[in-house]
Amino acid sequence: MSIEILPARLANQIAAGEVVERPASVVKELVENSLDAGATRIQIDIERGGHKLIRIRDNGAGIAQDELTLALSRHATSKLKSLDDLENICSLGFRGEALASISSVSRLTLSSKTKHQEAAWQAFAQGRDMAVQVKPVAHPDGTTIEVKDLFFNTPARRKFLRTEKTEFSHIDELIKRIALSRFDVSITLTHNEKVVRQYRAKTDPSQAIARVAQVAGKAFAEQGLHIQSGEGGLQLHGWVLPVGSANTVQYTYVNNRMMRDKLILHAIRQAFEEVSGAQELPGFVIYIDIDPRQVDVNVHPAKHEVRFHQGRLVHDFILQAIKQVVVPLQGEFTNEPLNNLADTAFSQTDTARSPTGNFESGEVFDYPKSQLQPSHSVSSGGASLGSRSAGGSGGAYRATPSTNHHDINAFYQGVSEQHAAHFDQGAHVSVGVNQSHAVEQAVALKTVAIISINEGVCVFSSEQQLYCSHFKYALVDDWHEQIKEQGSLEGKALLLPVRVNLSKQDCELIAAQQSWFTLLGFELIIEKQFVMVKKLPACLYLLDVTSAVESLLEACKAPLENIESWLAWQMQHTPARFYSSNIFLAQQARMQNNPQTIERLRVKAVKIDIEHYLMQLD
Ligand SMILES: Nc1ncnc2c1ncn2[C@@H]1O[C@H](COP(=O)(O)OP(=O)(O)OP(=O)(O)O)[C@@H](O)[C@H]1O
Ligand SMILES: [Mg+2]
Repeated sequence: MSIEILPARLANQIAAGEVVERPASVVKELVENSLDAGATRIQIDIERGGHKLIRIRDNGAGIAQDELTLALSRHATSKLKSLDDLENICSLGFRGEALASISSVSRLTLSSKTKHQEAAWQAFAQGRDMAVQVKPVAHPDGTTIEVKDLFFNTPARRKFLRTEKTEFSHIDELIKRIALSRFDVSITLTHNEKVVRQYRAKTDPSQAIARVAQVAGKAFAEQGLHIQSGEGGLQLHGWVLPVGSANTVQYTYVNNRMMRDKLILHAIRQAFEEVSGAQELPGFVIYIDIDPRQVDVNVHPAKHEVRFHQGRLVHDFILQAIKQVVVPLQGEFTNEPLNNLADTAFSQTDTARSPTGNFESGEVFDYPKSQLQPSHSVSSGGASLGSRSAGGSGGAYRATPSTNHHDINAFYQGVSEQHAAHFDQGAHVSVGVNQSHAVEQAVALKTVAIISINEGVCVFSSEQQLYCSHFKYALVDDWHEQIKEQGSLEGKALLLPVRVNLSKQDCELIAAQQSWFTLLGFELIIEKQFVMVKKLPACLYLLDVTSAVESLLEACKAPLENIESWLAWQMQHTPARFYSSNIFLAQQARMQNNPQTIERLRVKAVKIDIEHYLMQLD
């Protein structure tokens, strides 16, 4: 057989084999085109399950008269121009094939009007070369595409079509998925001239859950746990139902494109298994937003799979993010954080008491830092309940105002007095006094040099005697000094918050001592059945998060009642590896410059017998 170029229609029909499987795939391509055209209203009319008619009307940008022919040609797209664009795709379409393919296996007419045109035009392709005819038509701004008699000229394909009902159910399902990809677009779906679905635009993000509930089931509004994680080029948000929920609607999106990606599903499944051991996944609607350059959407013709350039990282990110919210259905979990300081009046009138409501309002992850500030509302009876500024806990789990909060306030009182003294001094002392203080310090530094050997080991001289010690013995005092100066030690944020499951009782215990360990740099969100660790003290960062929380729990049980004992506890749990970290090096440099360090080190130092070494020289 000689080699010949295929006629346009045949070439397009072959291409259609990849993307036009059934009526629902036509609907997908056409609705995606409307979304790419910026439509805010889309009407989808179906007749006889899409066998007879699929009509999509939108109020998008429209297609200019002189581009209608191109729109129906293969490899014609307005969405990318170069390879560079292909690596940074922000539109749903980019292959320039859908209209040509659909048009080759149906009777397709395209009517459109841009807002700059006076009149609208209609195009349709015919014959083996798919020559396009254009004629005037009456049409508002926007585009209508009518697809009649799908597969009329490809009997093999037609044979695979199922009943009207089945084909329509595929379309209905598809529209549900699309409706959850764009809350801001109104979508109407009719079948045999009856309105079957009407999704009204939800432009306010707080209304998003209403559409999720309408599409995916009201369980999402009642029990759905809102999740929001990550930042910048990799973020995840969405809703997850509790384990055991009967609702198993599962939708995932990447950059607002519906997805059935193995990597994403694997990460979600693993998260559920690790937290609850459950094999059966409940419903979820998860959106992943990633820098388009980090993902390749040109993997599958129908674009429902992607390839992440850093698959492992994305997998683990999803895994950790989902683990934050997985909860058993029967749990007492209400998402009311123990440290939620919302006042009682507010709580009672707040309609958003559902987990979703709470997460949405941002309270759960919003750590009330102000509770550590000196509080005016602490009465002699302890923290005044229901006050936003008190150091107690919220709701039924409000911890009994323990003496800890008194102590912490006393501690702060001391700190702020010192601060005040410091400022007073700054305002009144004369320049001369300041100068002499500086000279004193310089002399002290010269005479008390500390030589650091490595990993914290050091040698210093004091009163003509040489000593060997380790900077760790000066840590507690140095930390104490930092807390006095800055209010607390600076914690180190985990790459992602880590959830550690605990009993209700242990959560209460931890909550009661929170004021203390927050000074050390811990940042914890305490729920009823778990804590979410956001920051660890820099010196404990190398510990496994779960064991850090377990040790913390032990300390809370002890309980440690003053800052000195908490600092000593922290020092005890600091792993040896910390002494080779950059954070420690910075701290060591500061200690080396502090004249008081020698005194602190002398408490635990060994004398170096110089005579002994000198003798060896002779
Ligand atoms: N509803 C619409 N409103 C405005 N322009 C449209 C619409 N539908 C199609 N177009 C235009 O026609 C072109 C061809 O559409 P087609 O769906 O064939 O390709 P594509 O969307 O660019 O890529 P893909 O094949 O990946 O869908 C689009 O690039 C766009 O410019
Ligand atoms: Mg398209």
